[in-house]
Amino acid sequence: MRSLLVTNIGELVTGDPAWGQGPLGIRRNAALVIDDRRVEWIGRAVDAPAADARLDADGAAVLPGFVDSHSHLVFAGDRSAEFSARMAGQPYTGGGIRTTVGATRAADDEQLRANVARLRNEALRQGTTTMEIKSGYGLSVADEARSLRIAREFSVETTFLGAHVVPAEYSDRTDDYVSLVCGPMLTAACGAGARWIDVFCERGAFDADHSRAILTVGADAGLGVRVHANQLGEGPGVQLAVELNAASADHCTHLSADDIGALAGSSTVATLLPGAEFSTRSPYPPARALIDAGATVALATDCNPGSSYTSSMPFCIALAVREMAMTPAEAVFAATRGGAAALRRGDVGHLTVGARGDLVVLDAPSHVHLAYRPGVPLITTVVLNGELI
Ligand code: NIG
Ligand code: FE
Repeated sequence: MRSLLVTNIGELVTGDPAWGQGPLGIRRNAALVIDDRRVEWIGRAVDAPAADARLDADGAAVLPGFVDSHSHLVFAGDRSAEFSARMAGQPYTGGGIRTTVGATRAADDEQLRANVARLRNEALRQGTTTMEIKSGYGLSVADEARSLRIAREFSVETTFLGAHVVPAEYSDRTDDYVSLVCGPMLTAACGAGARWIDVFCERGAFDADHSRAILTVGADAGLGVRVHANQLGEGPGVQLAVELNAASADHCTHLSADDIGALAGSSTVATLLPGAEFSTRSPYPPARALIDAGATVALATDCNPGSSYTSSMPFCIALAVREMAMTPAEAVFAATRGGAAALRRGDVGHLTVGARGDLVVLDAPSHVHLAYRPGVPLITTVVLNGELI
C-alpha cells in the first residue's frame, strides 16, 4: 500500500496529551506519515520525510476521524410525520419503533443495504471513520440476523438489539419474547457476526430483570455489553450497565447522583446522544456533572429514523458545546477517544504512532470551529485506513 504524507498541518489534534499540548495533545506546524494503514511518523512539517503521496493541509486543522459508537442504520421507512407531531407538542415515547419494524420487515435486502450505504457514506463525508451499527428493527430471528449480516458489510462494530421493544405479535407475552431473544435469536445474531449485545432498558421496553437476563446470556455467548439506559426517565439501566461492566451506558439523559457516581467509579463509558434530545425536544444529559465526577464521556449520533435522524458528528459536537456545557476540546475528545473507549478500541480515535490511519482535514485552523461554525460542512478531506476518500 502507498504511504501518505500529510503536511503543513496548522493544528494537529493527536488526541493524546503525551503527544502534544493540553488534553487534546495538540501540535502546531506538524506533519504525519501513514504507511501500511497505520500512523508511522509524526513530527515538524519542516522535518517531514518523503512518501509515495502527499496531502498539503495548507495550515488547516487535522483531527482523528470521528468514532460514532451508537447508530441504528438498518431500517426502512420514514417517520417525519412523527417528528412534526413532536415539534407540535407530542412527547417521544419510543412507540414509533414498531412502525419502523413493520417497514423494515417489508423491505428486501437490497433496499436495506442501500439505506445503510447511503447513511454510512453521509457519515463518512462528515468525518466518521468508525461507526457502530445496531440491529433492532427486525425483532424476529430471520429479520435480526439479516439486519446484522447487512450491518456487518459496513462495519465490524455490529450490535444485536433484539431487545429493542417487544414486537406486536408478542404483546402480553414478554417472557416468551425474552426467551426467543436469549435462545434462537442470540444464536442467529452470533452467526451473523455480532460483536455486541444491547438492550433498551426503559419503562415500556425491558425492565432490569429481563435486561440482565438478556445481557448475561449475550456476554456468556462472547458478546460485549452495552445498554440503552436512562433515556426517558431515571431507571435501572445505568446501574445495570455498571454492574455488568458494560463498555457503555448510552443516553444517560436522566441520572441520579448515584448513577453519576457509579459511572465515575467504573470503566463503563457514558455515551451521550444529544441528537436525540434535539429531535425529541428533551432536556440534555448532565455532561458537565459526569465529566467533573471523572466519568469517561463519549458523543455519538444515535442515527435512527425516530429519535435522532442525523449522521453528523460535527452537529453533535456543536450541541454538546452549546447545550451541555462541554468545552470544544472535551467535545472533540468525546467524539474521538471517548467513542473509541465506548467500543473498547485502542487503535482508533487518536493520531499517535501506531494508530489506524483515519483522519479528517477541516476547512478551518482549529478544532474549535466545529462548534463555532455549526451547520457548516467543514470536513474537506477524509482519510480512512490510510486511503484518501
Ligand atoms: O436510541 N431508545 C431506543 N432506541 C432508539 C430510538 C428508536 C426509534 O425511535 O426508532 C434510540 O433513541
Ligand atoms: Fe439508540
